[in-house]
Amino acid sequence: MVMNELFADRAAIGSESRLAQLFGGQLGPDGIKFSAGNPNPDLFPTTQMQAAFNTAIDTAGNHLFEYQEVAGPIHLRQQLANRGHQTAGINATADNVLVTQGGQQAIDLVAKLLLDVGDEVAVEAPTYVGALASFDQYSPTYLDVPIEDDGMDVDALEALLQDHPNIKLVYTVPDFHNPTGVTMSVAKRKRLVELAEQYHFYILEDTPYRDLRYHGKSLPAIKSFDRHGRVIFISSFSKILMPGLRVGWVIADELVINKLRQLKETSDLESPAIMLHAVSAFLDNNDLNQHVANMLSTYRHRLDAMLTALKAYMPENVHFTQPDGGFFIWLTLPEGVDTQSLLQNVVMPQAHVSYVPGQVFFAHQNIKNGVRLNFSGVNEQQIDAGIKRLAHALSVTTVHSA
Ligand SMILES: Cc1ncc(COP(=O)(O)O)c(C=O)c1O
Repeated sequence: MVMNELFADRAAIGSESRLAQLFGGQLGPDGIKFSAGNPNPDLFPTTQMQAAFNTAIDTAGNHLFEYQEVAGPIHLRQQLANRGHQTAGINATADNVLVTQGGQQAIDLVAKLLLDVGDEVAVEAPTYVGALASFDQYSPTYLDVPIEDDGMDVDALEALLQDHPNIKLVYTVPDFHNPTGVTMSVAKRKRLVELAEQYHFYILEDTPYRDLRYHGKSLPAIKSFDRHGRVIFISSFSKILMPGLRVGWVIADELVINKLRQLKETSDLESPAIMLHAVSAFLDNNDLNQHVANMLSTYRHRLDAMLTALKAYMPENVHFTQPDGGFFIWLTLPEGVDTQSLLQNVVMPQAHVSYVPGQVFFAHQNIKNGVRLNFSGVNEQQIDAGIKRLAHALSVTTVHSA
């Protein structure tokens, strides 16, 4: 008997088809991987974090290993509320904060809170694949909103809202968007909040990259314009400290936080207290802004190197975004090119380079000519060599085949 016949429908949807596609095949010894999405482990503050773990254990002793508070320690929630104020212009107290196991759990809990089968969700096209995987579990109806160089096309969203006034949730990654790298303008942030008021929906603002800005000035969070609890803000320490900590957080209205807390409890009772107390001690004893500032120059050089190489080598019919931060650049190849088969048949075997084919980032998986390139995990020499090889492979194939 095939036991997976007993699995629920939601186990058949989503995760396999989406997340599995992210991590492509093997590359040879001269391979260059632009397909990753990880922070650079050389930049992890491991020594300081080790001290923070010791401080957490020395301070709390046995109590650290007991069951504790679902929402996370009050001191950490206060630290996160303060950070939201300092770095994103958000007015919040510890009661507005829920600590989660990474931003991913926060997205998953918001999906659990808001979505029933068939509910209408507007997402950027393309968007973060892990959010789609979480939303997929509830079989929503996806409505695509195009993305422009200054973020989500809010005019297109408004047109969509006129036809679909029951849209419940608008999901956006406003800062250094995954996968395109673009950032939403302040005017669009304000307009989005106005639309949420007018059309009665929640905005899920997912922003793990917002502190990783290499050029220009930081923008206020969408949440900072929120007057009536319409915005659920999510961030994470995965990109600015270490992803293995699995520490993220939500800032939202108390009503939303209380419900999310109940939903988290049914899922894991609470996050591991040792992680949360260690992160809290790290924040007490180190200057996180200084740590982030130290990382920026490494990533800035990589971003600049990739943009320089793209300008120098790419054929003219390949468009690329020009982000000011984050981890990713998005290529748009001529229409008709399928970047998945191109990767397998040409780019990996001939150029020994990998990228993530763009299809997976679209809710309907209907657009095939996009490519996500990661620059945070490769050094400048690799970037120059890899983009040159990729551009060569593209110019001898796509230019002629499209
Ligand atoms: C846009 C976005 N949101 C959320 C996440 C989840 O990250 P984590 O769960 O490690 O905080 C990621 C990770 O890549 C991401 O790119």
